[in-house]
Amino acid sequence: MFSQLTKLYIHLGGINYPCALEFCNDSPDEVIVQKYFSSEEQKDISLIDIPKRKNDYIQGRIAAKKALQSLYKVNDPQIFNIKTGVFGQPIVLSPLKQNFVTEVSITHSHGVAAALAFTNEIPMGIDIEKIDPIKINNIKNRLSKQEYEIISAAPSIEEGIFTLWSAKEALSKALLTGLNASFFLYEINNLKIHDSYIEGSFLHFHQYKFISFIGNGLAFSIVIPKNLAIKFN
Ligand SMILES: CC(C)(COP(=O)(O)OP(=O)(O)OC[C@H]1O[C@@H](n2cnc3c(N)ncnc32)[C@H](O)[C@@H]1OP(=O)(O)O)[C@@H](O)C(=O)NCCC(=O)NCCS
Repeated sequence: MFSQLTKLYIHLGGINYPCALEFCNDSPDEVIVQKYFSSEEQKDISLIDIPKRKNDYIQGRIAAKKALQSLYKVNDPQIFNIKTGVFGQPIVLSPLKQNFVTEVSITHSHGVAAALAFTNEIPMGIDIEKIDPIKINNIKNRLSKQEYEIISAAPSIEEGIFTLWSAKEALSKALLTGLNASFFLYEINNLKIHDSYIEGSFLHFHQYKFISFIGNGLAFSIVIPKNLAIKFN
């Protein structure tokens, strides 16, 4: 699932910025938890009593640790600890010394999680949404008239609606606001359909762009600063 996306390069004028994207869709059993989490982290996990939340939390952090392992080229996932900041944003703790500060963006949806590890020189966010007919009316009602016109370019109305939604959530993570600011601020004003991906921009945050992919009934979006180029191998 989206396996072609894990080889990604983000660059500007000959400079490659460190980043790594990983997915996790394993059901997190005891063996996996012991492999990825220190005993202190396992204690935190044992305090989560809602099974779905526990699953999401574990899968999201496994994806984040895999991305950090890939970024730092280390074998031990337990040297990374991902705490939660006051806005709900993930915070990376690690004893490793690098000449950049590392951040992660995490998303989970219906048994799939993804995480992007990156340098804080380039604020980014990711989001996965299941293309879910039950949620469609709720989301549709929150789109502007202009956005509704824009999605007519998408392969289907459903895909267009969930692409826009995942792009807005990904932007809200890059901004650290979540979707808690006035909703019109996340408005999308342009959508370009390419063969294997969709690209778009934001009316109020014109310094960012998004790249979205549709597959396996999911919409997946990455938001990055507009002047950077992103390439998947
Ligand atoms: C951040 C937000 C956008 C999360 O979106 P989501 O699709 O519900 O959940 P996702 O799985 O994609 O993302 C959750 C992750 O985002 C990250 N996150 C949460 N708040 C964040 C913030 N302020 N900044 C950056 N990242 C944040 C966390 O890592 C979290 O996972 P964790 O708690 O396991 O660490 C959420 O604040 C939000 O506003 N959701 C709106 C939901 C809504 O309105 N639904 C109605 C649909 S009709």
